[in-house]
Amino acid sequence: MNSPTSSRSVGLLLASSLDGAIGDGNDLLWKLPEDLSRFKALTMGHSCIMGRKTLLSIGRALPGRQMVVMSRQANLPDNAFPSAEAPAYFRQCLWAGSPHEAMALCSEADPIWVIGGAEIYRVMEEYAHFIERTEVEGLWPVAQARFPLDPNRWSLVNSGEWLTSTSSLRFRYQRLERTAI
Ligand SMILES: NC(=O)c1ccc[n+]([C@@H]2O[C@H](COP(=O)([O-])OP(=O)(O)OC[C@H]3O[C@@H](n4cnc5c(N)ncnc54)[C@H](OP(=O)(O)O)[C@@H]3O)[C@@H](O)[C@H]2O)c1
Repeated sequence: MNSPTSSRSVGLLLASSLDGAIGDGNDLLWKLPEDLSRFKALTMGHSCIMGRKTLLSIGRALPGRQMVVMSRQANLPDNAFPSAEAPAYFRQCLWAGSPHEAMALCSEADPIWVIGGAEIYRVMEEYAHFIERTEVEGLWPVAQARFPLDPNRWSLVNSGEWLTSTSSLRFRYQRLERTAI
């Protein structure tokens, strides 16, 4: 029998600064409306795997996307979060206690998107085939959530022009693929 992970296309979708920062506490580090629009366009109709802390930072279930949330507190096999005090939108998500459980819950639409945060990028990196990155100009050296990309593992296959956001930050879109070994 095929493993649920073997035949699926899996992409990491992330925005990170030049020094690999992605967030701090519950918050993103920047306002980038163009990136939010792109995130919506890419993920609509797909499964999104995320960590419990990222779900809390989003603060709702995203319409049109299947939310698969990783937590070691997942109450399998019900795929439900156990706490009665959990926010109501927790019940609109599927819950998984491991990468394999998360991927087995995903719908058939490829790719499966891994949407963060830092812990889940690290856990899911080995299953990913490509990365769609929004590179944000600037350094955030004290930000706690970080996911620096390993150049030995990921090769840049496309890098767009630098663009200027309506928020005045500069950013560009990049695609990376797993380095052949
Ligand atoms: N810039 C971006 O593209 C981007 C995208 C997403 C998020 N972010 C930012 O990233 C930050 C959140 O990232 P984070 O690293 O703190 O948290 P996270 O990755 O969102 O979630 C961490 C949680 O995931 C669960 N988990 C981790 N490893 C697991 C495993 N092997 N099996 C099952 N569950 C596992 C645990 O939940 P339990 O504690 O319940 O066990 C853990 O506390 C926020 O600042 C957010 O704004 C940025």
